[in-house]
Amino acid sequence: MSRVLAITSEKGGVGKSTLAVHLAGAFTQRGLSTILIDEDGRVGSSLRWAARAGEEGLGFPVLTPDDVKPKKLAAAAAVLIDTEGRPKRKELRRLSERADLILVPSGVSALELDSTRELLDFLLEAGDGANGGGRKTRIVLTRVPPVGHAGEDARENLRDEGLTVCNTLVRQYAAYQKAAELGTLARDVRDARAAVAWADILALSRELL
Ligand SMILES: Nc1ncnc2c1ncn2[C@@H]1O[C@H](COP(=O)(O)OP(=O)(O)OP(=O)(O)O)[C@@H](O)[C@H]1O
Ligand SMILES: [Mg+2]
Repeated sequence: MSRVLAITSEKGGVGKSTLAVHLAGAFTQRGLSTILIDEDGRVGSSLRWAARAGEEGLGFPVLTPDDVKPKKLAAAAAVLIDTEGRPKRKELRRLSERADLILVPSGVSALELDSTRELLDFLLEAGDGANGGGRKTRIVLTRVPPVGHAGEDARENLRDEGLTVCNTLVRQYAAYQKAAELGTLARDVRDARAAVAWADILALSRELL
């Protein structure tokens, strides 16, 4: 049985594709067969990321929905779905039916946290039934300033409101941007903070599978 993790958010540019690619890399490094499906037809950043990786690739397949073979899908331990920002309500409902877990990345600014709350409200409402969208939704705080307590504070506040938040804070490091430019993973870029960035991703991956 594969575990299907969908990544979505109310706002664009919060770090969905960065998380999708890096989590897929972390699962792969841990020996879990992983597939990343890029369902962001408009931007296709995961696909483009993989294209920049060239022949060597990223170590796991990045596919369009049309390229997905049901057999391969069933054989994978982890299936990650990268989606476009601002999904339509209908798409969200479909996503919550297909996924075992919906990950909602969010920055820690008040504005970003508010749009994340809105999305969670919808998913909680949509998920009244046994396959509840709410119960299988988790916020992951990302682009968290490495200095100060903004990440910890946001996590505690959201939890006080009854929302489920990953323990791991994915901190803001230039290594992720470099990785995107080079078509590789933060683990593999030459950067003083590459190792700490990768440690965040590995920790998050262990919370999820
Ligand atoms: N943890 C991080 N630290 C530093 N930069 C980050 C981090 N996560 C994402 N970024 C940067 O933020 C920008 C947006 O990230 P990304 O493309 O992953 O977001 P997205 O949610 O997939 O966007 P879209 O809605 O357009 O698909 C990129 O420049 C990326 O390098
Ligand atoms: Mg994206």
